[in-house]
Amino acid sequence: MKVVTVVGARPQFIKASVVSAALAPLCQEVLVHTGQHYDKNMSAVFFEELQIPHPAYNLGVGSGTHGRQTGEMLIGIEQVLFKEKPDVMLVYGDTNSTLAGALAASKLHIPVAHVEAGLRSYNRRMPEEQNRVLTDHISTQLFCPTQTAWQNLQKEGITEGVSVSGDVMLDSVLHFRKVAMDNPEKRKIHEQLGIEPKHYRLATLHRAETTDGGLPAIERIFDAFEQLPQRVVIPIHPRTRSLAEQALADRGYRNIQLIDPVGYLEMLLLTNGACQVLTDSGGLQKEAWFMEVPCVTLRSETEWVETLVGGWNVLAKLTTEDILSKALNTVPDPAARAAQPFGDGHASERIARAVCGREG
Ligand code: UD1
Ligand code: UDP
Repeated sequence: MKVVTVVGARPQFIKASVVSAALAPLCQEVLVHTGQHYDKNMSAVFFEELQIPHPAYNLGVGSGTHGRQTGEMLIGIEQVLFKEKPDVMLVYGDTNSTLAGALAASKLHIPVAHVEAGLRSYNRRMPEEQNRVLTDHISTQLFCPTQTAWQNLQKEGITEGVSVSGDVMLDSVLHFRKVAMDNPEKRKIHEQLGIEPKHYRLATLHRAETTDGGLPAIERIFDAFEQLPQRVVIPIHPRTRSLAEQALADRGYRNIQLIDPVGYLEMLLLTNGACQVLTDSGGLQKEAWFMEVPCVTLRSETEWVETLVGGWNVLAKLTTEDILSKALNTVPDPAARAAQPFGDGHASERIARAVCGREG
């Protein structure tokens, strides 16, 4: 039994880390890195820290327009599939690497297993929504992280091969938070940044909807961050870096601390220690939920609707007033956390067994 797995972007390395470990004793996995993310702190750091097997192939596709990037991935992945002749293609999430992996395999009649199936924002302008809808419709095994995701697929008439596996990101947080806590070097991160646990907010920004608004959009967000009572630490995604640096140079914000992207272990420690998270990231919204840190999502909708209960996650429009008001005035309700909608922390083992045909 041979599985080809396609990854390419930061959150996919994190998801693959736990699933690859679960696959290892069950079947042969050939890991393909598309090269969508390539900076050391966007790629290599995750392979090193999370002990992900070295990819058998790196297609080195890099950045580009959607068409060029996805097209080059398709060409490269098809060559790998001709050579490797796998039984299954495994893909994660909703990036261009996800769609390229699924499409290349589907055209060659190789069954596609999709981890994080059924997520919907119902905003078809988002590249991620396009990627996940298309991927779901050509997948044969669909692993839903939540019951809501399962219902979303039912509504689209996708009923075969669908299961609620739980969320592999819960597995990875449960495992790696302990690894991070036990690592004295990583635990210096707060001291290194001159911040104290529970006395700072953590923010990330990288969505096209955020950056497409250019400098004015970033300055509206930073104007809100500037007025918050605690410092806002931002590990800045390369997509947003130049806009953020420009905003800082123009407006001289004093409450905003831009830092380079950090590895996952440090990110977990930073999230765990924050008094609030402000983000347009999908993964970080859930990590905030898992670690019981209140979150303000800088978007007008979220796929992760479960996190909205009891005010643990609130949506904010990209205006200074709305961000400030949501960041300052939302008090989460501890009683709302009775249920864990993201599974039991064993999604990766369940998925590995199903992909390798070892169920039951
Ligand atoms: C991609 C995914 C998004 C996911 C995100 C995770 C798509 C359409 N988008 O967005 O769903 O949430 O990854 O982080 O697949 N860049 C670098 N170095 C890198 C990588 C990127 O400098 O290692 C810069 C380049 O200028 C590039 C830009 O970031 O043009 C955007 O990168 P890209 O991979 O196209 O999209 P992301 O915003 O990272
Ligand atoms: N992350 C990280 N270092 C950073 C910023 C984020 O390790 O500097 C992790 C974060 O903890 C989460 C994942 O990257 O697990 C989220 O990725 P991203 O926000 O890039 O993508 P999304 O989840 O929105 O697709």
